[in-house]
Amino acid sequence: MKPPKTVFVCQECGGQQQKWLGRCPDCGAWNSFVEEQTAPQTVPAAANSRYNLVSGSASAKLYSDIQTSDAPRMSSGIAEFDRVLGGGIVPGALVLLGGEPGIGKSTLLLQVAAHVSRNVGPVLYSSGEESEHQIKLRGERLAVDRAPLYLLAETCLERILEEIERLKPALVIVDSIQTIFSARFQSAPGSIGQVREVATHLLFAAKGRSIPIVLVGHVTKDGNLAGPKALEHVVDTVLYFEGERHHAHRVVRAFKNRFGAASELGVFEMTATGLREVPNPSQLFLAERSIGKPGSAVLCCIEGSRPILVEVQALVSSSTFGNARRMASGVDPQRLSLLLAVLEKRAGLHLLGDDVYVNVAGGMNVDEPAADLGVVAAVASSVRNRAVGSSTAVFGEVGLGGEVRGIPQPALRVREAARMGFERCVLPMASADLPASERPPQLQLIGVRTVDEALDALLT
Ligand code: TYD
Ligand code: MG
Repeated sequence: MKPPKTVFVCQECGGQQQKWLGRCPDCGAWNSFVEEQTAPQTVPAAANSRYNLVSGSASAKLYSDIQTSDAPRMSSGIAEFDRVLGGGIVPGALVLLGGEPGIGKSTLLLQVAAHVSRNVGPVLYSSGEESEHQIKLRGERLAVDRAPLYLLAETCLERILEEIERLKPALVIVDSIQTIFSARFQSAPGSIGQVREVATHLLFAAKGRSIPIVLVGHVTKDGNLAGPKALEHVVDTVLYFEGERHHAHRVVRAFKNRFGAASELGVFEMTATGLREVPNPSQLFLAERSIGKPGSAVLCCIEGSRPILVEVQALVSSSTFGNARRMASGVDPQRLSLLLAVLEKRAGLHLLGDDVYVNVAGGMNVDEPAADLGVVAAVASSVRNRAVGSSTAVFGEVGLGGEVRGIPQPALRVREAARMGFERCVLPMASADLPASERPPQLQLIGVRTVDEALDALLT
C-alpha cells in the first residue's frame, strides 16, 4: 500500500512544496512549513451541491429580477458593536473577530449572545477553549440570566454543524477558529489547511441557512490574524479588537466590511461586569488632558464615519548621548521623522540634538494625515515651552514644503470640536471655507497656509 501523500504547507501564505524548506519561496517566511496530508482529490458528486447553498439556485439571474429584500439587521444589543458592523448583524454574514489573548473577545461575544438569545432567538455559543462550566462562570459576572443560550464545548466541526442543524439558532458563535478541526481533514487544528476548511464549511452553513456566524480568531505576534490570509477573503467582515491591557478601554475596528464602512470604530470600557460601551469617546480621551501645559495639542481625527478628539503629547529634551532618540506611540514613527524634518527646515526649530517623544494619550492610534498638524503643534509647543490654548483644536496635513494641506470632511471635525466646547479651531485654509450652515456659531475657524502661520496662531 502506498503511504498517504503529504505536502509541506507554508503556514503564512498557504504555498505548497514537495519537501521541507527553511524559507518559503513564495512569501519569504522562515521556518513556516508544516507537513500536511493532501485532501482527497476526488470530489464526490454530492459535494458539488453545497456550492449552490450560497444563492440557493444554480442558474444566473437577471440583475433587475433580484429582489432587494433588505433583510432587517439584527441588533447585537451593544450600540457600539452594531456601529462597527455597519448597523447590526446581517443575516447569513460570516464575521471574524480577531484580537490578542485576554483583550475581551469572549466577553464581548457572550454579552452579544445573551442579548440576542433574550430578544431574537436561540444562540449557539460553541467554544473550543473553555468548558461549559467556565463559560457559565463568566456569564454570571456578566449577569446572563435564563436566556435560551446553548453552550457547546466542542472542537469538531462536524459536531458543531450537527448542532446548528438541530437548534436552528438565530446566531452562532465559534470561539476560536484555530481550535476547531474537521474530521475529514487530517492536519492539526490551527494549521492553514484546517482553518481554511473549517471557515469554508461555516461559510456555507451561514449562507445556506441565513444564520450569522461570528468566528473568533487569534492574532500572531506582529498583530496579524493567525492563519491564512485567505481567511480574510472568505469572511464578510473582519473586525480587530485593539487596546492596551493597562488601559480599561478597548476599541473594535472594522478592517473589512461587506455591509458597512471599513475602519469604523466602536469604543468600549472593560469593567468588573463586562464590557460597557462608550458612546462619547472624545470625552473619554480628553478626560485627563493636561490643560495649559506646553507639549500638548488636541487633534480632531476621523475614524470610519466618526470624528474623535484626542490629545497628542510631545516632550522634547536635550539628548545626553550622541544620537538623539525619537519615539512615537500612536503615530507612525516614519511620519514623525518627516514632520520633525519639516519643522527643522521650514519653521526654524532646532531639534538635531534633542530627544523627541510623541504620544497619543489614551492608547489611540491615529494614522490619517490630518494628524500632522496636531503632532507639529505639540512638538513646537514643547520646544518653545509655550502652551497651545486649552480651548483650541487643530487638524491638517503637512507637506514637505511646510505647507498645510486640506483634508477630507472638515465640517464633521469642526462640529465635533464645537460639541466638546472648543472655541477655536486651527485648520488648513483650503478646508476653512465652510458654508455658513456647517459653521458652528461659537467656534472661531482660523485657516492657515503654512506651518509657520499655524504655529503663530497656536502658540500664544
Ligand atoms: P476574555 O474575554 O476571555 O478575552 P479573550 O477571549 O479575548 O482572550 O477576557 C478578557 C479579560 O477581561 C480577562 O483578563 C478578564 C477581564 N474581565 C473583566 O475585567 N471583567 C469581566 O466582567 C470579565 C468577564 C472579564
Ligand atoms: Mg477567549
